[in-house]
Amino acid sequence: MHTVPEERIIRPAKNVFGSLRLPGDKSISHRYGMLAAFAEGTSRFTNFSTGADCASTLSCMEALGAKVRRLEDGSVEVTGVGGQVTPSAAPLDCGNSGSTMRMISGLLAPQTGSFTLVGDASLSRRPMGRIQKPLEEMGARLTLTEGHAPLTIEGQALKAIDYTTPVPSAQVKTCVLLAGLQTSGTTTVREAVRTRDHSELALRAFGATLTRTVNSVSIAGPQALHAIDAAVPGDISSAAFFLCAAALFPGSGLVLDSLGLNPTRATLLDVLTALGAHISVLNLEEKNAELVGTVQVSAPAEGLRSTTISGALAAQLIDELPVLAAIGPYTSGGIRIRDAKELRVKESDRIALVVKNLRAMGAEVEEFEDGLDVPGGQTLHGATIDSGDDHRIAMAFSVAALRAEGETRIQGAESAAISFPEFFELLDLVAER
Ligand code: S3P
Repeated sequence: MHTVPEERIIRPAKNVFGSLRLPGDKSISHRYGMLAAFAEGTSRFTNFSTGADCASTLSCMEALGAKVRRLEDGSVEVTGVGGQVTPSAAPLDCGNSGSTMRMISGLLAPQTGSFTLVGDASLSRRPMGRIQKPLEEMGARLTLTEGHAPLTIEGQALKAIDYTTPVPSAQVKTCVLLAGLQTSGTTTVREAVRTRDHSELALRAFGATLTRTVNSVSIAGPQALHAIDAAVPGDISSAAFFLCAAALFPGSGLVLDSLGLNPTRATLLDVLTALGAHISVLNLEEKNAELVGTVQVSAPAEGLRSTTISGALAAQLIDELPVLAAIGPYTSGGIRIRDAKELRVKESDRIALVVKNLRAMGAEVEEFEDGLDVPGGQTLHGATIDSGDDHRIAMAFSVAALRAEGETRIQGAESAAISFPEFFELLDLVAER
């Protein structure tokens, strides 16, 4: 994505109040887009993610022969290749999106032809050995560049495997499942912590059969996929910025409707409740096996308490940790995060950037290899924030800025468009000044 660098000024707020409906979930949109493009027939999606990452998935799938139409009413129509892609002469550009690169590699490894995958500077630094290992165990031929993209896949028939992921990762799980979908025999993925299960639910929605236990998922291939019509639930990881913002202001009230509440994604609601926020969930319903509902949040009059996030919780909350750390100074007892080393290999080193930016705002914070300690009861001042071109850092510090003294400048604010182009506009709608 080639965008113009943008600096945003965030002024302190007096309160956060209102009601919002958020754009579609990024993880679910990637999967619906990729599976629809691979399936037989034409799928239609409403509330598809507006983020640049999901656009990267769709454009890669178009380059492989799928047809994508964006309709006037905002919905997206995808006509699939019926299980057989056409190799593209040009490299497939995954942009900033780790999900695109890791998941599409599993889809392509059993196909016929040669495929080259590239990404932007940030994606080209991220570890790809984690998909190479299981795919090579299946017999795939992958060439990486010193463990990173650009990567090349020489597609060929694979064999089924039983694989335990060394680091919990939904992207790696999905990569193996998408290869297993096209491979004779039963492919099993085991994981110590159940990571987001959107791929399992989406594969079933597109007509595949798979079996699950508490910590494993198995797929017997080959199987065909068939088009669906679906509404994508609102993105709870985007909602996290608004939920945390509302939790900071006694007297706040925020309602988010049609929000995705898949239990493997909704841990943030438990953490906010533990911090003392008042949360209620209404109108819960199931859409294509994904839970969707309305969430109401308000802040406790006495302010937020303290919490520790470690072990399985850290893996389940991985995308929400930057904003939780960023509001840590405003709690009474602080926020401790451990077992979150994965944060260092996201779109940026998120531990280093959170620490750097909290310090820029005058906060005391201690950095650890796998997390950080943010003491509570602190007053922050406005500062210039280095987002590192990382969408979640830009948005996390926009939230911290609401309670700071003075203005905060978010450098690289345009990166929010990776997952949530509407973020600043919606923040202005609910932040009372
Ligand atoms: C995602 C999985 C997580 C998450 C990312 C989206 C997905 O990454 O951080 O934002 O959609 O499967 P890992 O699989 O690397 O943990």
